[in-house]
Amino acid sequence: MQSLNIAHNGLVELDVLSVKHWTNKTFSFSLERPNSLRFRSGEFVMIGLIVKNKPLLRAYSIASASWESKLDFYSIKVENGPLTSKLQNVSVGQKVVLRPKPVGTLVLDALLPAKRLILFSTGTGIAPFASIIRDPETYEKFDKVILTHTCRKTDELGYGKALIQEINSDELLSEFIGTKLLSISTTTRDSSNLTGRLTDWLKDGRFSDFTGSKLDPSKDRVMICGSIEMLKDHKAICEESGMIEGSNSKPGHFVIEKAFVD
Ligand code: A2P
Repeated sequence: MQSLNIAHNGLVELDVLSVKHWTNKTFSFSLERPNSLRFRSGEFVMIGLIVKNKPLLRAYSIASASWESKLDFYSIKVENGPLTSKLQNVSVGQKVVLRPKPVGTLVLDALLPAKRLILFSTGTGIAPFASIIRDPETYEKFDKVILTHTCRKTDELGYGKALIQEINSDELLSEFIGTKLLSISTTTRDSSNLTGRLTDWLKDGRFSDFTGSKLDPSKDRVMICGSIEMLKDHKAICEESGMIEGSNSKPGHFVIEKAFVD
């Protein structure tokens, strides 16, 4: 069933199982999962294409849960981007290469125990959290999980909304999650139900009003994934509240990872 050819040193070639174009700027795709690939929810792997006989790889967060039999990814399309301008054209049955060495800091192990887990994302930065919110361990460790997703336009929220719907319609998962998951989707350049950057929400009290309390290092843990500027601003807010950045070797109050691919 698995066609794991060794394409280049240490890389495996995997079949594309499905592709979905969400907007003219984003698409998602699924790959077959190597039997031997183990990863922790929130980790990323290097994936890409063989171009002119050389691997062209970028870091992609795995968006599927660690218990799933396929690997999901969510990607931006960058015009003239070396990889995404080509990768966006893949179709079912074609091959994508992967280095089977998952790594990353957006993992539960890098956070100290607490009550609430808050996941701040913009754009395709939601990908690692798609994995984390479908992991039963997340709900064993936290009483409340708050996923925020901010995009410029309403149509860019589609991937996250479909994800929440999928969770709600999954009997096993929704029974496990109960009322623990709260999702907040906002737009910044379109009118929609909720608008504005979450950094502004945190500063002006909207975050506290919506979720029941402001950021508190004694009960909250935070994961952040988005652009470099977004990470910088969210990190500053975490640090102002007294939170300390965590890592795999030294768990803390918050962790960050850049969501970027070209
Ligand atoms: P905005 O429209 O106000 O710039 P981008 O496509 O530039 O990465 O932006 C994706 C989303 O992230 C947009 O809604 C954008 O809001 C928001 N954003 C961009 N920079 C920051 C930041 N420094 N802090 C919080 N949100 C940000």
